[in-house]
This record gives sequence, C-alpha cells and structure tokens, in this order.
Amino acid sequence: MKTTLIVYDGRHGAAARYAEILALIVSNAKVYPVDSAPTDTARFSGAIFLFSLYGPDTAARTKAYLAAVCAQRAFEKVALVGVGLSDAHEFPAVAAHLAALLGQAAVTTGFLPGELRLARLCADERTQLERFAEKTGRPVQDGGQFDPAAAVRLAQTLSDFFRARDRVMPAQALREAAEKILKTHNTLALATGAADAVRCTPLEYFYWDGALYVITEGGKKFCGLVQNDRVSAAIFEPYTGMDALCSLQITGRAACLPPEQADYAAIMMRRGLTPETLAALPCRMNLVRIVPETYELLCADFAAQGYDVKQTLAISGN
Ligand SMILES: Cc1cc2nc3c(=O)[nH]c(=O)nc-3n(C[C@H](O)[C@H](O)[C@H](O)COP(=O)(O)O)c2cc1C
Repeated sequence: MKTTLIVYDGRHGAAARYAEILALIVSNAKVYPVDSAPTDTARFSGAIFLFSLYGPDTAARTKAYLAAVCAQRAFEKVALVGVGLSDAHEFPAVAAHLAALLGQAAVTTGFLPGELRLARLCADERTQLERFAEKTGRPVQDGGQFDPAAAVRLAQTLSDFFRARDRVMPAQALREAAEKILKTHNTLALATGAADAVRCTPLEYFYWDGALYVITEGGKKFCGLVQNDRVSAAIFEPYTGMDALCSLQITGRAACLPPEQADYAAIMMRRGLTPETLAALPCRMNLVRIVPETYELLCADFAAQGYDVKQTLAISGN
C-alpha cells in the first residue's frame, strides 16, 4: 500500500489543522509535527511538508529534518505546501530550497491561506511581524482566514498526484468491469447536495445505453438536485472480507427528463410503463437520468489479474 507522510512546521495551529484535512482526503496518511516526525521513512512512498511562513525563519525545522532524512533515502513524490498571508515573498525561495534537498523526488507545490491574530503572538513575534510589515507594506493587524475549502481543493489535487497508479487496467476492460457491476445490480445510493440540503437515497435503477435511470415519485433528493446537477452514486456488494471487495462509485450529472423529451417514452417503456399506464397513475412519476463522468472501482478481483484493486475511468464524450 502506498502511504503518505505528512509533516507540519507551524506555531499557532493553522498548518496543523490543514495537515489534518489533507490527511483525511489524501488518505493512507500519517501526520506528525516536524519535531517528532520519524527519521526512518522507509514505509512512506510520498510526503507532504506543510510549513507556515515566518519571514527568514520559515521552515527552519523542516530544512533540518529533510537534510537529515533525505541523506538516507529519497521519497518518490513530495508536495510542499506553504501556509501564510502571501505566497509572493518567502514561499518560492523556501520551496526551491526544500526541493533541492529532496533530490530525485517528483515535487509539486501548493499554498494555503494563513491567519494572523495579534492577540496570540509573543513579543518576539510582534517585532518580527513589524519587519514583515515593512517589507510587504501590510499594516500590523489581524488578517487572513483559515480556509477549509481551499484545503479541500488542494487535497483533491494532491490525492490525484499521490494516487497515480502503476498497475492501470486498460480502459476498455475497466469499462466492461464497470458495466458488469451496473448490469448485475439494481440498487444504488444516490448522493445529492446543495449547501445544507444533502441527502443520500437508496434507489432502484436501471442502466441503459451509458446512463443510469431512476423512476421516482419525488422526495428530498430533489432539494439538492434542483439546485445542483452534480451527483455521486455508489453500487456495492456487502462487506464480507477484504478479498471480496467490490464497489463502483460514480460521479456525474443528473437531470429530470421532461415527458415531452423525445426519448422519455422509450425509456419508460423499458420498465413497461406505457403513456397510458403513466397517465392512469395517481401521481406523477419523475424520470431521472444520471450521466456518469467518472467511475471509481474497488475490486479485489483486479489484483489476481495483475492490476491495482482501485481503478478510475474518466468517461469521454460527456
Ligand atoms: C512573526 C510572524 C511572521 C510572519 N511572517 C510571514 C511572512 O513572512 N509571510 C507570510 O505570508 N505570512 C507571515 N506571517 C503570517 C503567518 O504565516 C500566518 O499567521 C500563518 O497562519 C501561521 O501559521 P501557524 O498557525 O501554522 O503558525 C507571519 C506571522 C507572524 C506571527
């Protein structure tokens, strides 16, 4: 399993909180403050180093740590993440310094908004801050805001960076594996959402011609759907053991088809619902089409075929 070491170097908590968010989303990760990070890093294939910006003191402990650790062994992939009020001053030079220590590793960078609260600072920090203010023209005052949404966006990018797989299944075989799951099941969990209107709904579905269809009388899934057409759905076997894992996660877009749309009648007919039957029902039936954009499969069987158990397929033509 590919695991990621996450090390943060900060003083007032922003880097530590961002490290925790990145660990949750990047996954298979362990988080350490730089002062207690392991010197034996053999079990980690990748690493994320977060460092808060503190003028000339920026990342001092991370530099010392990397100088010691990289002398023994190189990481495959590393992300360097600055946390501060501006990425224009110290960040590029410090990131370049750290990248040089990392040698052969593939390095990517990111920057997250820091927050400055004068009430939390000691006297030395206030003096240092005055120097920072002279250099940047910023007034010495509270500023910046911890931003979990920015951390989530960065984590998604880093997740792709660290997860790039070696044993990738050919697209056609992967599409067939996904379609096998889609055709041999009839129930999915559909997640819809917009602001507070989040909902996960178990639904019967059928798969036809590259899309999933759900026929429904309505309900709270539409609270999100009428505001946001982005959806996620999961189809899976109940857990019986790690050697039998089988699931398909779909991300895509969903829409309610209007009855006057050309293919509406043909799709309803696949469920035996003629226009007459529909007209005779006591309530309206809504037809939701889910068009997949990405399939993510987790199938224990893939390992026996020589592939990674996790595979991702972007669906072209959407
Ligand atoms: C003494 C001091 C110096 C700072 N110097 C910089 C700086 O050079 N560049 C910058 O963008 N932010 C600077 N900041 C803002 C910090 O990077 C920001 O407050 C960050 O969120 C701190 O992260 P932490 O909570 O992980 O320590 C400074 C803050 C202090 C208190």
